[in-house]
Amino acid sequence: MDGNGRWAKARGLPRIAGHRAGVKAVRAVVEECARAGVEYLTLFAFSRENWRRPEDEVNALMVLLEQYLERELDTIMKNNIRLRTIGRIEEIPEDVRRTLSRVTDRSAGNDGLTLILALSYSGRQDIVDAARRWSEEVARSGKTPDALSEEDFSGYLSTSGIPDPDLIIRTSGEMRISNFLLWQAAYAEFFVTEKLWPDFTVDDLREAIRDFGGRERRFGMTSDQVKEETESG
Ligand code: FPP
Repeated sequence: MDGNGRWAKARGLPRIAGHRAGVKAVRAVVEECARAGVEYLTLFAFSRENWRRPEDEVNALMVLLEQYLERELDTIMKNNIRLRTIGRIEEIPEDVRRTLSRVTDRSAGNDGLTLILALSYSGRQDIVDAARRWSEEVARSGKTPDALSEEDFSGYLSTSGIPDPDLIIRTSGEMRISNFLLWQAAYAEFFVTEKLWPDFTVDDLREAIRDFGGRERRFGMTSDQVKEETESG
């Protein structure tokens, strides 16, 4: 969700005004995904690297996140949305964590859109944490390392049980992955728009999904093989 800062700067406003405008875009996109039948939506709301930002910006982001959760709980329930988090949640301030677990628990039985908030998230750290959990398991259970498959390893990541992303949308024209879902993005399609996140609308989301629908996903195969596979059902 890039571009909140630039959006604010262009208007002579403090960066936090950009984040506030960014929350409005979050609300619209979440509701549209729930309505359109998207099964999983992951929002990169706060990276581990974002802790390096000025303290007042970090604090303001945590306040915005908590307000969003408090204010949107009804909408989350009404739209059958299930909230999950990924990342080092233990690093998030305790009061925000309490609100997060309240909304996560309340929405656990919903079976519409799964909304995943990536918080204090780093793709590399997640892989390292998974490797630690896996090696502890090996030491405990006596499993042999050569039995480890990609699928097994995925189960140790914080995204365990969540399918890999089909589409990654990046705003403000940035052509980087910025430590987001490094393992899981192996075959994700990218959609990059010049729009700054606060200007990203439901129509932009629909355009990204339409564009995705026209892509040929080969997963290492040839185009002819993919066509054959599609035709044979
Ligand atoms: C990136 O823009 C945005 C962030 C680091 C924060 C995103 C957070 C929100 C939209 C609000 C809280 C989240 C939720 C889910 C309610 P930037 O600040 O890096 O912008 P810039 O690249 O223009 O400086």
